Amino acid sequence: MGIELFIPNKTNESILNKYIDFNIEFQREVNPDDPPAPPELIRKAILEDSSQEEIFRWIVFSELKEILGYARLSYPNKKSPMFETNKSIADITIIVTKEFRRKKIGSELLKVLVDKAKELGKKTFQTVTNLESGRKFIEHFGGIIAADRSRNRLYYREIKWKEMEKWCEEGKERAKGVRIETFQDVPEEDIEEFTKIYTITENQAPDYESGDYQGLKVTPESRRYYEQFYTEKGYTWITKITREEDGTICGLTEIFYNKHMPHMIEQEMTGVLPKYRGRGLGKWLKADMFLYIKENYPKIDYIETGNANNNLPMLAINKKMGYKKHMSEYLMKIEIKKIEEKL
Ligand SMILES: CC(C)(COP(=O)(O)OP(=O)(O)OC[C@H]1O[C@@H](n2cnc3c(N)ncnc32)[C@H](O)[C@@H]1OP(=O)(O)O)[C@@H](O)C(=O)NCCC(=O)NCCS
Repeated sequence: MGIELFIPNKTNESILNKYIDFNIEFQREVNPDDPPAPPELIRKAILEDSSQEEIFRWIVFSELKEILGYARLSYPNKKSPMFETNKSIADITIIVTKEFRRKKIGSELLKVLVDKAKELGKKTFQTVTNLESGRKFIEHFGGIIAADRSRNRLYYREIKWKEMEKWCEEGKERAKGVRIETFQDVPEEDIEEFTKIYTITENQAPDYESGDYQGLKVTPESRRYYEQFYTEKGYTWITKITREEDGTICGLTEIFYNKHMPHMIEQEMTGVLPKYRGRGLGKWLKADMFLYIKENYPKIDYIETGNANNNLPMLAINKKMGYKKHMSEYLMKIEIKKIEEKL
């Protein structure tokens, strides 16, 4: 067994293909009933990293050159608006092939990540896992759950369309003068205001409010960068905003659809500025987005979204829409000092 630095753009085709198989195998473990992402998309994702992040990867090979484990460490670089807030933080992933778990391969990879983190001056790791094995592993090394979340899912065939139409009617009625606008790239004249609202409301979600896990920070430049980044990977990124009569943007919701994974839609962030809450805007935005999905993507199987289990306002809306828990999701935080004590 040996741990090797893995640089996707410099490796050979055989290792790249083994990595793709390994990735698909892991997707099957997490979501056994779903079609995994197609190999071409996985290849593109790993070969074309975001230029706003520094990323390091390692692979554990068996003597026969089979992949037994994989680790990744990344952090926002100077091009990212998150550079300052995340200066001492690195995001990590460790995956060990199922049959080779509990043999300390994960611990060996963690050692490598700690060495790299120390070299970079990082003090904290963040990671996301859907699996109990991941949660227990991180807890073993002194980590904590920064946000206890669920992946919630609503199957298209179960959507109550009449109810959604009613929500839209009620929304218009309750918030007189407010209108909904829909776009992919944010209009140039709105980008400053939109990215401000996005950052404010994102960081008010309970997942990030405690400060244990860093939420996103978006600027006009980073938004433009990611619009292009996701388009190149086959994604369509649709946003709806609510606009007050005086022109102010007060709320937003967004979804991602990928033509290479046409069975699903990812519902991402929904946010309404505090001053404008309590008028049914969140419900209206989400119902309006569903009608958009019906018109444009009627062949999907389901819509999935991630929520903190203590995000009562969002969960109340999602429950009424029919979303049900699909699986757990833990955002975890771990101090490097604590790992070193344990290693
Ligand atoms: C998390 C993961 C990488 C651990 O890899 P591993 O090689 O099995 O881990 P180790 O053998 O080094 O485990 C070290 C310690 O962590 C704890 N641990 C690991 N897996 C555990 C499990 N399933 N249940 C309880 N404790 C566990 C144990 O205390 C273990 O020591 P022990 O076996 O002597 O009791 C592996 O389970 C995995 O790939 N899970 C899916 C991906 C994931 O969720 N990754 C976490 C995000 S970074």
